[in-house]
Amino acid sequence: MIVHHSQFPVSVQRQLLDALRLGQVPPRFLYDGDRQTQKWLAVHRAHSPSRIDAGVQSIYEQAFDASLGQAAGESACLVGLGCGGGQKDTRYLAKLKSIYSTIDYVPCDVSQAMTRVAREAAAAELPLERIHPFVCDLANAPDLGQALDGIVSPETKRVFTFFGMIPNLEPAVILPRLAALLREGDRLLLSANLAPGDNYRNGVETVLPQYDNTETRAWLLSFLEGMGVSPAAGQLRFGIEEVDGLLRIVANFKFLNTVRLRVADESVEFAAGRSLRLFYSYRHTEQTLAKRLAKHGLAVADSEIDASAEEGVFRVEWV
Ligand SMILES: C[S@@+](CC[C@H](N)C(=O)[O-])C[C@H]1O[C@@H](n2cnc3c(N)ncnc32)[C@H](O)[C@@H]1O
Repeated sequence: MIVHHSQFPVSVQRQLLDALRLGQVPPRFLYDGDRQTQKWLAVHRAHSPSRIDAGVQSIYEQAFDASLGQAAGESACLVGLGCGGGQKDTRYLAKLKSIYSTIDYVPCDVSQAMTRVAREAAAAELPLERIHPFVCDLANAPDLGQALDGIVSPETKRVFTFFGMIPNLEPAVILPRLAALLREGDRLLLSANLAPGDNYRNGVETVLPQYDNTETRAWLLSFLEGMGVSPAAGQLRFGIEEVDGLLRIVANFKFLNTVRLRVADESVEFAAGRSLRLFYSYRHTEQTLAKRLAKHGLAVADSEIDASAEEGVFRVEWV
């Protein structure tokens, strides 16, 4: 397992403290550590359309099949950026295996536990020596390309997956990084949660109730519990906010009592009535996504949208 310097403890603690002072929890902290990983995997099992909706599963299968047509060469490396438990990547690996004689897999995630779960899943398709877990905070890794070159030979064509990541990362940070990563012959498949219907805001309002469920509450509140805060210390509320023309679902925890959050030997006070933003998730339309990608020199070359128009898988190219 390789751990990028973005995940060294001192920089991780500093990032959390700085964000808490602004009343925010960066999304990556919701997944970090064994406990948060288990809680999120429970959300995924119970609610992810890719696990419970055959229509959504099939758009991934179709996107994988369609991308095989672009295959060239004998060997390839699948890089799962934000691999989570690796279920989607493993299904993709099963298909890639049929056309390449050698395949490597780099399950890359901010959570070390997630990369271990993904490694175990992928072991059903690849020998363990071909799987190279990489723990990295994608939002804080300007040298990502260089780091990957140290794991797989720069001559190897890469297939990047970026599934379920668009909602949790700031577009202005991650899209230029993705664009810089792509080399001639590489491929990128990403998925996005969409707002169904013709009206963007109405579409986001339609999906809002999906977020307020037992497993998601347990996942978000367990982050606070891990910091010594009882769920009874405040109220968790879901809502919608607009940022730079995009809509996102947010979950804020409003403190009922004054609470001090400790990180290493520093602390941040939340007075009664103050809110901490625990979660956000951008929703897109096909148009908002295409527009954001275009800002960074990326274009959709192929897309598969599920029948409910709530999820899409996109093959994206550098133009
Ligand atoms: C919504 S899950 C998607 C998982 C998987 N790709 C899938 O589609 O099932 C988001 C994943 O991204 C990871 N993640 C979140 N922020 C990250 C960051 N800044 N850098 C790397 N991974 C991150 C989380 O640990 C989690 O595994």
